[in-house]
Amino acid sequence: MAAGTRTDPVEGSAVYPLGSRVNERGRLEIGGCDVADLAAEFGTPAYVYAEEDLRTRARAYLDAFRAHGCDFEVIFASKAAPVSAIYRLFAEEGLAIDVASGGELHMAIEAGCDPARIHLHGNNKTRAELELAIDVGVGHVIVDSFDEIERLDGLLDGPQDVLIRVTPGIKAETHSYIQTGQLDSKFGFGLDDGLAARAIEAVRAAGHLRLVGLHAHIGSQIFELEPYVKTIEALGALASDAGLGAEEFRLLNVGGGLGIAYAAGDQPPSIRSYVDVKVEGVRRVFDPPPKILVEPGRSLVGNGGITLYEVGTVKEIPGVRTYVAVDGGMSDNLRPMLYGARYEALIANRAADVPDTHVTVAGMHCESSDVLVRDAELAAPRVGDLLATPATGAYGHSMANNYNGIARPPVIFCKDGDARVVVRRETWDELVRRDV
Ligand code: LLP
Repeated sequence: MAAGTRTDPVEGSAVYPLGSRVNERGRLEIGGCDVADLAAEFGTPAYVYAEEDLRTRARAYLDAFRAHGCDFEVIFASKAAPVSAIYRLFAEEGLAIDVASGGELHMAIEAGCDPARIHLHGNNKTRAELELAIDVGVGHVIVDSFDEIERLDGLLDGPQDVLIRVTPGIKAETHSYIQTGQLDSKFGFGLDDGLAARAIEAVRAAGHLRLVGLHAHIGSQIFELEPYVKTIEALGALASDAGLGAEEFRLLNVGGGLGIAYAAGDQPPSIRSYVDVKVEGVRRVFDPPPKILVEPGRSLVGNGGITLYEVGTVKEIPGVRTYVAVDGGMSDNLRPMLYGARYEALIANRAADVPDTHVTVAGMHCESSDVLVRDAELAAPRVGDLLATPATGAYGHSMANNYNGIARPPVIFCKDGDARVVVRRETWDELVRRDV
């Protein structure tokens, strides 16, 4: 090995998309594409996905269920990456789709998803959203409040399958902003307060709603599996207390939430063990078991994508810190600022060089909180270098915004060395297009 180089930091890493490596030119390669070529062709910043990575993770979910020989459905929680090409990719793989709003529903329909396999969520679905759902024939509405039960029933003139969203009173270990299972939550109907039992009665009493199951999602970026077992047990108690029969309890949706590796050393459970725990839990609690639904978002798309930036300035404050500023930041990745999320960073055009410089990777926004990676070790960063942050495939593009008039990055799909734009870069013109 030449001095100043190291073994491939990317190949086999749990953080980067499957199949990533450092190529002979010392550059990061995603889906067989050299990121320097991608930057030259598509510009930076850019979200870059390895298409095969997404497919492999979808198949891992399906295979894990098939190994149990049970009745199941894997639903892509599209809020993690609502992109037409990603809706289509997962539909091709046989996944159903979860949408969290009328907008996501519209995107899924435009992408060609089968409405019968769409699950509509939201703690405050508007009339317009419910009307759209009824119009297109959404298969399942997950009802979240008494007001919604009334609103939805009032809009229907035929039957609509619904699941009831339950907040089981179980707190999973994750950032409090993305915990959703606890009693004190804006989501769903609680168990301890008796609201879930009353919701079952309200749905039964509604003229057009047909109860087909229960739903619980206890939070996101979860590394422990035990809370899922407790959730299933809690739902079992509710189902039995309420006397839910086979017709009313055809489906049990145990949500998404499986965590991913954001940095080397993060060790989330595998998709296989996550599915095993859920299936075994359901089989232990229910006889006969209902059809088991899971609703992953992050664990399907998170590690499949990276963000590629260009370094624009390197500011060394002697004795204090070195800031490396890139051409994006909180407009393309809000997670560090919202949740204190940690990311890795890599000089992608010299990916085999030894990381010898301690820096802070900052964005280009007018705000001091605009820091993507507080402490990163980089190979002597220079202006014009490409910088990659891995594991931005989930909730990066979907939470992107135009703060400071920054146009949103494109989404690039890479496969076998071929790259294609699936969402083009926003233009400055588009920033004024809605103004009247
Ligand atoms: N199902 C429901 C009802 C959900 O609310 C969510 C996520 C999921 C499924 C998918 O969860 P996942 O498998 O992705 O953990 N913006 C935050 C994450 C918010 C998650 C909201 N709900 C973040 O960037 O971490």
